[in-house]
Amino acid sequence: MAAQMAAKWSRESWQNKPIVQMPDYPDVEAVRAVEKQLRGYPPLVFAGEARRLKAELANVAEGRAFLLQGGDCAESFAEFHPDNIRDTFRVLLQMAVVLTYGGTLPIVKVGRLAGQFAKPRSSGTEVIDGVELPSYRGDIINGMDFTAEARLPDPARMIQAFNQSAVTLNLLRAFAQGGYADLHKVHQWTLGFLSNTPVAERYRQFADRIQDSLEFMEACGITAVTVPQMRETDFYTSHEALLLPYEEALTRNDSTTGKWYGCSAHMLWLGERTRQLDHAHVEYIRGIENPIGMKIGPNITADELLALCDVLNPKNESGRLTVITRMGAERVSEHLPKLIRTVKREGFNIIWSCDPMHANTVKSESGYKTRQFDRILDEVRAFFAVHRAEGTHAGGVHFELTGADVTECTGGAQAITDANLGDRYHTHCDPRLNASQALELAFQLAEGLKEERRQRQKEIRVAVAS
Ligand code: PEP
Ligand code: CO
Repeated sequence: MAAQMAAKWSRESWQNKPIVQMPDYPDVEAVRAVEKQLRGYPPLVFAGEARRLKAELANVAEGRAFLLQGGDCAESFAEFHPDNIRDTFRVLLQMAVVLTYGGTLPIVKVGRLAGQFAKPRSSGTEVIDGVELPSYRGDIINGMDFTAEARLPDPARMIQAFNQSAVTLNLLRAFAQGGYADLHKVHQWTLGFLSNTPVAERYRQFADRIQDSLEFMEACGITAVTVPQMRETDFYTSHEALLLPYEEALTRNDSTTGKWYGCSAHMLWLGERTRQLDHAHVEYIRGIENPIGMKIGPNITADELLALCDVLNPKNESGRLTVITRMGAERVSEHLPKLIRTVKREGFNIIWSCDPMHANTVKSESGYKTRQFDRILDEVRAFFAVHRAEGTHAGGVHFELTGADVTECTGGAQAITDANLGDRYHTHCDPRLNASQALELAFQLAEGLKEERRQRQKEIRVAVAS
């Protein structure tokens, strides 16, 4: 660990380390040419924005805010459409407003959007009817069709992914700052297909309360003119830093500070399969100044986590490192307390976030990869309960969701069953919550935040009294 710390980092230094999950490009020269092209392109985000997100995340680390991170498992070229971007943005806004109001905490909104293209796979190849081909690794690498041609990694896809990310980000910025996110539109964010569901009714009543509060504040002179936060919001982007040639080409030196930033998104994270201490992905991400995340599954040991915290956040900055646990509903209560205690004992400042999706994936009887809404809810509840018991802040959540009316996860108020999965199963990788399920979860989360707050107030009263 000390040796790694001492070793000099550069944006290329990951190339000297062992690496997993890298595509096998048939034409290395073509990859070099694409990297060169990308290096000449403008950055997608500005370092100052990443710094602002880090400052907001410092508030999360210190218990004064909550992180909401979500979006597609994998963005795709085929589903690139303004309505899809709008719907995902909109459901995240709805969730955020439910959480802000219910939890009385500022919500830091980070999309798995505008760059979430590369996917780690459990196997390098896929076999169908005796035919073996390379696995699909996300549209930035190869195509999903099961043909030798589609599955061949093609570096030109990096350019298309970059362009799609730029356009997506442009629209997100316009929505966030251009009036769409105005709190006065809280009723209009309701998605059409939700209109007759119980969760839509609950949201409507909730939006009425917000409307009343806005009218009251306006009567007191607090308006969108005096308080711009009422008509615009900050929205950040993130993705898994998996395809390192792409990330390297977009890593830029910030002229105002002289430091290196990954400029493909505001926040980047390490996946569960690429967080080996001495490997390339850890090497790359440790040297950029952005806020970063790391997924951890139930097999991580407390010592391993400490070593990673040390390497990834050597200055122990609040807001730098978000540890995203994805343990599975039953395993949270078993594994998380020890990790929390160890991190607390060693004094590391991290954000604890919960991904209740990736360890609750099953193959349904009908053959679809799915997740049960109740299992997802169980993991979130267990996560909150453990943090309440340990006296730590349940800092955030990380969901795979879409604003579209898909049928990919079973359960929820719409009671999607295994037999319904085929109706609208559109994901390019893992099953996502649809808008109704996502909103239902937000109402549950708001309850969790309220309980955490009640407990804190109780502790304060006890401390003052004694
Ligand atoms: C993902 O977030 O899509 C993913 C692959 O997660 P994990 O690294 O936690 O398995
Ligand atoms: Co996924």
